Order: sequence, then structure tokens, then C-alpha cells
Amino acid sequence: MHDVIIIGNGDNAEVVIDIISEIHDINIIGIASENLNKGDQFMGFPVLGNDQDIISSTDNSVQLVNAVGAYRNTEKRQGTFDKFKQAGFTFISVLHPNVSISSNATIGEGVIMYSGVSINTNTTIGNNCILALNCSVGHHTHIEDHVLISAGVNVGANATVGANSLVAIGASVISGVSISKNNLIGAGAVVVKNTSENQILFGVPAKPINEK
Ligand SMILES: CC(C)(COP(=O)(O)OP(=O)(O)OC[C@H]1O[C@@H](n2cnc3c(N)ncnc32)[C@H](O)[C@@H]1OP(=O)(O)O)[C@@H](O)C(=O)NCCC(=O)NCCS
Repeated sequence: MHDVIIIGNGDNAEVVIDIISEIHDINIIGIASENLNKGDQFMGFPVLGNDQDIISSTDNSVQLVNAVGAYRNTEKRQGTFDKFKQAGFTFISVLHPNVSISSNATIGEGVIMYSGVSINTNTTIGNNCILALNCSVGHHTHIEDHVLISAGVNVGANATVGANSLVAIGASVISGVSISKNNLIGAGAVVVKNTSENQILFGVPAKPINEK
């Protein structure tokens, strides 16, 4: 049994706690929140303090779950991960029981997977990623650290999604394509060519509209 503290109390935290309720080897001992007070309750669990309170008062053998979301960018989620890692904590991954992961795939630290995720052979998922409802990642594909793959996204085979990128709901990334670092791929886009760093792209085929 893992005793864990959940970091965050937003919408993503509600999803993560819901997933944990279906997993029997994770025991939530409390919540770290930047906007609730110590002693408040969140989804029936006690708020233990803010991030700094946890760092200064908790033995770093207690494991954490990073439940901070990443709707338009991953900065806050990555900042949370880095801050606690520097303080010597480790994050566990929370994978919904209804995921399909090849035994030849490698999953990093602190990854969240919602229901219906499919991960094929020889794929790597970096640290601190979120993979939302019913997305799929093809074989020999590399998802780097701090990436958000949104609901219904399909990433093909032999592809790469660069660190800190977001692939929004229903987008597709064709096989062999490399999405660079810190990209935002718009909802419903089809990415057919390699991209450059810090771009926002959307459409079919996806075209860059802006620098982030
Ligand atoms: C791509 C995206 C970031 C653009 O957002 P934005 O810069 O705020 O753009 P706007 O909403 O102001 O739209 C600008 C124009 O692009 C169009 N547009 C926006 N998103 C589009 C998309 N995904 N596909 C096609 N056209 C799009 C709009 O219709 C608008 O066109 P107009 O000027 O002719 O009216 C956004 O639409 C998107 O896809 N967000 C998804 C976020 C998400 O899902 N995050 C992960 C959640 S888990």
C-alpha cells in the first residue's frame, strides 16, 4: 500500500482522486492546496497545508501524486514536479485500471492516465505526463517529459512529442512526425510534418498560427 499526498485541488485532482478510488494499493493521507486552508476538506480528504508546508513538515519518504492540470500550458504542473523533486520527494504514477499498456513500454515518474488509454510496444512516456480519456500512442513513439495528451488524441508510430507540449482534444499526429518542445496542437488538428519549438498549430493539415 502506498500512502500518498495529492498535490492540487482543481478539476484534474478530482479526476485523479476518482481514479485512485478504483485502485486498491493507494491510500490518500491528505491534500496539498495553494487556495484552501489547512484543516479544510477536499473530496473527503484533509488539506494538510500548501506545497511549502508539505516540503518543510513532511518526511520525504511519503510519496506524492501530482494532480495539477495543464489546460493551456504545462508550466505550473512542471513547476510543482520540479519543486518537490528538488526537496527529495518522489511521485507515483496513477493509471486507471482500464488502460492497455504494452509490457515493452516504459512509463516515467508521476504519470497520470485516465480511462481508455492505449500504449503500444516500445513506446516511452516521460515523467509527469497526463494522458487523458481514450487516447492512443503508437509503437516506437516517444512522449517526452511534462506532456499533456488530451482526450481522443491518436499519436502514430515512430513519432515524438517534445517536452512540455500539449496535444488538444481529438488531434492526430501521423506516424514518423516529431512535434518539437513546448508546442500547442489545437483541437482536431492533424499534424503531418515536423514542427519547430514554441509553436501553436491547428487545422487539417496543421499549420503554425503563432509563437507561444
Ligand atoms: C488552438 C487553440 C489553442 C487556439 O486558441 P486561441 O489562440 O485562443 O484562438 P481563438 O479561440 O481566439 O481562435 C482564433 C481563430 O482560430 C480558430 N480556431 C481556434 N481553434 C481552432 C482549432 N482547433 N481548429 C480550427 N480552427 C480553430 C477560431 O475559430 C478563430 O477563427 P476566426 O478568427 O476565423 O474566428 C484552441 O482553439 C485549442 O484548440 N485549444 C485546446 C486547448 C485544450 O484542449 N487543452 C487541453 C485540455 S485537456
